[in-house]
Amino acid sequence: MKDKIETLKNEINQVNLTDALSVESFRIKYLGSKGLIKSLFSELKNIPNEEKREVGKFINDLRDFAQNKWKEAKEKLEENSGSHHNIDLSRPEDAIEIGARHPLSIVRSEIIDIFSRIGFTVSEGPEIEDDWHNFSALNFPPEHPARDMQDTFFIEKGEKEMALRTHTSSVQVRVMEHSKPPIRTISPGRVYRNEAISARAHCFFHQVEGLYIDKDVSFADLKQTLLYFAKELFGEKTKIRLRPSYFPFTEPSAEVDVSCTICNSKGCNVCKYTGWLEILGCGMVDPNVLESSGIDSKTYSGFAFGMGIERIAQLKYKVNDLRLYSENDVRFLKQFTGGF
Ligand code: DAH
Repeated sequence: MKDKIETLKNEINQVNLTDALSVESFRIKYLGSKGLIKSLFSELKNIPNEEKREVGKFINDLRDFAQNKWKEAKEKLEENSGSHHNIDLSRPEDAIEIGARHPLSIVRSEIIDIFSRIGFTVSEGPEIEDDWHNFSALNFPPEHPARDMQDTFFIEKGEKEMALRTHTSSVQVRVMEHSKPPIRTISPGRVYRNEAISARAHCFFHQVEGLYIDKDVSFADLKQTLLYFAKELFGEKTKIRLRPSYFPFTEPSAEVDVSCTICNSKGCNVCKYTGWLEILGCGMVDPNVLESSGIDSKTYSGFAFGMGIERIAQLKYKVNDLRLYSENDVRFLKQFTGGF
């Protein structure tokens, strides 16, 4: 009997358990309920009583030996079938699509960059504004048509009537209230108007406001600053022209055109064959506006300007439907590149 056990042990020792099939047949052959080890146990009854104990121990040892071998092989097999093992690490990675910056972000960054080179800082204000910052402090008379429901989204907020700001000029009021001249700042941001959405109008768009206040600031400083800006943005050959205009918060006021960058001023359908493109409004800050915000208009003067980011993006990228900017169609968005 002992020899039989010994032989079986040698046999078990030599079995090679390399795959799931051999591991399972090993279990059935040696450890199963009809397996060889089980049958050794049933042969115990034929053994003389005095040897039973010893032989029983041998069979137990053999069973433990077989069981350990089976367990080890099974664990190894499971480990190897784990996910990392079947990966081909030399396979090239699937290409990851890299997003692109939004054209309005590119243009905004470019504008900030141009003005920061001549000492302008960036300031921001809230999109939900009160009447004071959006209108009254900017010298809008109470009956001014821009206050009409048609242009402004009003919001009821407790006692106070608030509005979504209709322009970033509200930020110049906030800057003047909180800082002392000299002030040199630009304020980029989103603005809202109650307009029907079409290719040429939207209920929200983006502006950049500029404000410069110091002693002895003149209209010549304004013109020179805007000429520098136009040349940096559209190229060295760009010209500007100023046309008299009206804004409640500036006196005198002007609208600024740049020479058409699309046809080089020869005349095309974008500049409507005039050779000029309107890009911004500007003027000398009205003394009333300075005083409303606590700045002495006898000591200080300043200029301000405001431009639409969509308008500039339209000229730079020849995108003439405003709706494209907020539709988030990746085919549109991925066309733009900018070094900012
Ligand atoms: N706030 C004006 C608008 O939304 C733009 C503007 C014009 C801003 C003249 C100015 C300015 O600061 O001086 O149409």
